[in-house]
Amino acid sequence: MIKITFYGHGCFKADIDGTHLLFDPFITPNEKASHIDISTIPADYILISHGHEDHVADVKRFADRTGAKLISNFEIISWFDKSFGISNGHPMNHGGSWNFDFGKVKYVNAIHSSTLPDGSSGGNPGGFIIESKHGNFYYAGDTALHMDMQLIGQYHSIDFALLPIGDNFTMGYEDATIAAEMVKTKNVIGLHYDTFGFIEIDHTKAKEAFKKKNVTLLLPEIGEEINL
Ligand code: NI
Ligand code: MN
Repeated sequence: MIKITFYGHGCFKADIDGTHLLFDPFITPNEKASHIDISTIPADYILISHGHEDHVADVKRFADRTGAKLISNFEIISWFDKSFGISNGHPMNHGGSWNFDFGKVKYVNAIHSSTLPDGSSGGNPGGFIIESKHGNFYYAGDTALHMDMQLIGQYHSIDFALLPIGDNFTMGYEDATIAAEMVKTKNVIGLHYDTFGFIEIDHTKAKEAFKKKNVTLLLPEIGEEINL
């Protein structure tokens, strides 16, 4: 069992046997998450899918307070070291895996862009496959639907997936239902929707689209915990 806590937009925390993995922290600039007090959120690792502001805004705050190890692509890890002296980072690139104390992380392809807030290159955007004794999941990051997702379904056993569903900047929920089929999972947590105008969605229609494919779409409230 893995406990997921949703913090709005693309940000969530996965607790795996007492280890806290925080993904794409963007909480303090998100008006919809104004009730979340980030000083109470623990983090042992911070995983960053790509360089955009709406995925890295709170990385420094969390890293400074918790000393968490950053996991991302080489360019983003180097940028946090050069810009802020955050040297506790683990650089990866596409297709590579590494065994951490909580389980195995693979950095996988995403179709998107990845410029960092100051205009520096954030390398190529990605997603993560996490495999542990307590369960496996796929976080797609910001991405279009793409055929590499078929490889994930073929060669990994994915218990649940966190997929963007907001459309415009990423795939929308219709394409996300196809992504769920490709990675062969029956449980999806929707991300990257409703934060601002371009990505507002109809929740009922989104859930119906997934239901047609026999996949459950979970849309937790910001701050809500789910065990999967
Ligand atoms: Ni993005
Ligand atoms: Mn984004």
